Amino acid sequence: MSNVEVAAKYIKEGKLVAFPTETVYGLGANALNPQAVARIFEVKERPSFDPLIVHIADLKELDQLTAHHDERVFIIAKHFWPGPLTMVLPKSDIVPDIVTSGLPTVGIRMPNNEVALDLISKSGCPIAAPSANKFGSISPTLASHVKEKLAKVDYILDGGKTSVGIESTIIKFTKYGFQILRNGIITKEELEKYLPHDDKTPIEEASAPGMMKSHYSPQKKLLLADNSNILNIDKSKAGLISFTGNLESAFSKVIRVSEKQDLKDYAVNMFEAMHNLEDDDSIDLIIAEAVAEEGIGVAIMDRLRKAEYNWRNVKV
Ligand code: TXA
Ligand code: MG
Repeated sequence: MSNVEVAAKYIKEGKLVAFPTETVYGLGANALNPQAVARIFEVKERPSFDPLIVHIADLKELDQLTAHHDERVFIIAKHFWPGPLTMVLPKSDIVPDIVTSGLPTVGIRMPNNEVALDLISKSGCPIAAPSANKFGSISPTLASHVKEKLAKVDYILDGGKTSVGIESTIIKFTKYGFQILRNGIITKEELEKYLPHDDKTPIEEASAPGMMKSHYSPQKKLLLADNSNILNIDKSKAGLISFTGNLESAFSKVIRVSEKQDLKDYAVNMFEAMHNLEDDDSIDLIIAEAVAEEGIGVAIMDRLRKAEYNWRNVKV
């Protein structure tokens, strides 16, 4: 049996499989089996109010999982699937409440990763999967991140490093257009080519559970740096996640996330750099270079601010 076949067998038996997507590794279970989904929450130590994204490999599954048709869903699916985009849609009765944390909607996406698509097809069911990390900690972009930091997974399907590196953009539809619940590499501007953005309706908190101020948080203090605020700090045990190259002097360790100053590379390498510095005993402070909040920079700064949040008032 191939690795994907073994993993699919586990999914069919109601077990948990960590698998690659193009964004980050997911911790997957049969989305239609509430007992299997319950184990995701247990292993991740995830609060039950935080709903899961359901992964599909075929548009037929979209029909089964959602309650009614909306032309706009097909317009977006046609242009962005498979890809790093999740749509929050009215759910059908076959989706267990535990998947959606009791909400009447379900988040669905078709990942752009051959291994993931093959796993979903061979499992014969949609796969519910959050990122394969402990709740609130750094997302995994390598199989080794899952292995080292998340025990109790039944099987890890190794598909190498993920190609996008940050979680999918999440959207919902209103009567005026789409709203973004979580930023990702598919930006507002790209989506606006196909549908109007609704900036009239305020996003109700209840429609975006799981959007905490703190998230993706390393076990060590992380500080977001612009040009001035790190001038006087002690850099002898500090690691820098560097983008422009301008802040590198005096740091004991530097991880350059992009050679060409391309924001896509920042997204691809950001979580791996955080894992690396978190695991390095010679480092007790992580500094991450801030970028302009435009285009993909919006999603990158969202992750970095959340990583910094818990540490803001902690002295080192
Ligand atoms: O790229 C990704 O989306 C990755 C890979 C594995 O697919 N998954 C991921 O899942 O990031 P997770 O669990 O870390 O984030 C899921 C978030 C929830 O925290 C919630 O904010 C939102 O998706 N979500 C899911 N279902 C929703 C719903 N019905 N209504 C509103 N938000 C929902
Ligand atoms: Mg997550």
